[in-house]
Amino acid sequence: MAEAIASALVQTGCCDPWDVIACDRDAARRELLAKQYGVAVTDDVKQAVRTARTLVLAVKPQDLDALLAEIRPLLTTRHLLVSIAAGKTLAALKRAAGDKPRLVRVMPNLALMVQEGMSVFCAARNAKPADRKLVAQLFGSAGSVLELPEKHFDAVTALSGSGPAFVAYVMQALIAGATALKLPRDAARLLAEQTLIGTGIYLQNTGRDTADFIQAVASPKGTTAAGLAVLEKSALAQTLAQTLAAAAARSAELSKA
Ligand SMILES: NC(=O)c1ccc[n+]([C@@H]2O[C@H](COP(=O)([O-])OP(=O)(O)OC[C@H]3O[C@@H](n4cnc5c(N)ncnc54)[C@H](OP(=O)(O)O)[C@@H]3O)[C@@H](O)[C@H]2O)c1
Repeated sequence: MAEAIASALVQTGCCDPWDVIACDRDAARRELLAKQYGVAVTDDVKQAVRTARTLVLAVKPQDLDALLAEIRPLLTTRHLLVSIAAGKTLAALKRAAGDKPRLVRVMPNLALMVQEGMSVFCAARNAKPADRKLVAQLFGSAGSVLELPEKHFDAVTALSGSGPAFVAYVMQALIAGATALKLPRDAARLLAEQTLIGTGIYLQNTGRDTADFIQAVASPKGTTAAGLAVLEKSALAQTLAQTLAAAAARSAELSKA
């Protein structure tokens, strides 16, 4: 995710590469980030904290408290902390980081890598309007961004944070179904990809109601209607709802850990 964010910041021109300092303890990762995106790199997190005013925390949730304990003595009121850790609430961040830094929690997704990310954020009470604007600009440079109350974050984590994996799973099933119909695999993949992309863009651009769109594609007794009849009899809608519920429940569990 850190790479996705760094690449978004630099490749969209949102930040100059020399304004970004990436900190990772793995030398190969640092080398890749420096070479690929031209950003400054360091293995010294304290140096990064002394240098930067906006800190994007992109370590695994279970590593975040240790990281914050290490940098807490260096944190001041001039720092804005932006955490992308799943399940780490603003309250937990404040407990670990102290009162001084301003806090924003973001749930991005991996599509940031291709400038089609979906990022949702919520800000702590001490965040300034300029912090919200900066976060919206940073994450909005590589996709859509939305501010929502924190109470929605488990659902957000399930739908857009974990969602790319669920959509890829559906795509995988469509490709398998098409290859069973003897469509070559490469062609099936292209057709599935473009159909998902095209449908998403069409619905987003037109704002059309999904039920109305489905009805418009499905002419009576046509091919789409034949397929839809199977879908409607299946448990797919229920299974997808259960998938999101399980991911949201795990996010809630992580919040309590
Ligand atoms: N993956 C997603 O699609 C997604 C979506 C939304 C949000 N998130 C959130 O994004 C965060 C990162 O996820 P990820 O999948 O990118 O994890 P990841 O691949 O494990 O990346 C985290 C990186 O941070 C490094 N690191 C850990 N502690 C460090 C420290 N103290 N100083 C410097 N570097 C340190 C890790 O190094 P080591 O390998 O040596 O530990 C690793 O290279 C998580 O909190 C996750 O909840 C992920």
